[in-house]
Amino acid sequence: MTKKIIFSGIKPTGIPTLGSLLGAMSHWEKLSSEYNCLYSVVDLHAITIRQEPSVLRDNGRNLFAWLIALGLDPDKNTLYYQSQVPAHAELGWILNCYAYVGELNRMTQFKDKSAKNADNINAGLYTYPVLQTADIVLFQANLVPIGEDQRQHLELCRDIAERFNKIYGEIFTIPEAYVPPVGARIMGLQNPENKMSKSDDNPNDCIYLSDSTDVIIKKFKRAVTDSDNTIRTAAEKPGISNLLSIYSCVTGKKVADCEAEFDGKGYGHFKQAVGEAVAETLKPYQEKHAHLMADIATLDAIAAKGAERAANMAAPTLKIVKEAIGFIN
Ligand code: TYM
Repeated sequence: MTKKIIFSGIKPTGIPTLGSLLGAMSHWEKLSSEYNCLYSVVDLHAITIRQEPSVLRDNGRNLFAWLIALGLDPDKNTLYYQSQVPAHAELGWILNCYAYVGELNRMTQFKDKSAKNADNINAGLYTYPVLQTADIVLFQANLVPIGEDQRQHLELCRDIAERFNKIYGEIFTIPEAYVPPVGARIMGLQNPENKMSKSDDNPNDCIYLSDSTDVIIKKFKRAVTDSDNTIRTAAEKPGISNLLSIYSCVTGKKVADCEAEFDGKGYGHFKQAVGEAVAETLKPYQEKHAHLMADIATLDAIAAKGAERAANMAAPTLKIVKEAIGFIN
């Protein structure tokens, strides 16, 4: 039986965080034996915000190395840079003509990002969810593992794909989101009302995958909590709830068991334990990452192979789309 298909992507806009790991990337590896998986460093998406060329290049390679360091085998998964597969941009343009301005206006990420980048509200930022739709349907993906913040984009993807199918027949597979039950929304350590984000200005808010053990422990020690002094998940305790979900994700224990483990203990003790557990989880990945980054030529060659494979997988869909629309072959 042929395996079902997974597509997911991550933008090279900084060092990946514990949020991107626990919300998305850690699940990519778990799903990779059951599915035929494509995971892309989506650099076309990164330029919706102005990027320094050398920084974009470094971020791209670093992120690509993280994918492998986190356990994705490039022989079993298709790992590649989005900009090396032109079919993404081609289908992205086509689907722009099937997306409505009204629906793009409703995208909360566009509203947030345009508020943050008021001097560069470009058309790409606005139509970015359509390119994301193209990324997914290009491969007839069945499942898309993402964090909570991407759910709205996936809904839009399904709407656009269904609209296209209604006009032209069954062209696209309608994908499902895979949002993990715990970890789908890791919040900032200083500001637990907002998600932890790699493009954030406050480095103390984020755990970067490259942070040293000392830095990780320090950042957790400084994490914002509350004055109630009980370690439990509750809407009015966003800081402690966030630390509990992080601890649950990295140890694999249920949240309720984590609450029981720290029952009667102080916040200082709890924060130290979370910091140590995170640092211990990241250490072997960091070592593998450093090793991979020491040989850029090999890394680029792996990516080129992945791009070739992705292009071959994309070609049949693009062909039927063009035929359906009426383009001359
Ligand atoms: P990006 O690069 O912002 O994030 C990559 C993945 O990490 C998840 N994530 C989080 N999960 C939990 N808590 C957090 N604090 C956190 N921060 C990030 C995101 O939900 C995401 O799954 N538009 C996408 C990239 C993309 C894509 C796609 C994803 C482009 N095309 C097609 C899926 C399918 C983005 O900006 O992700």
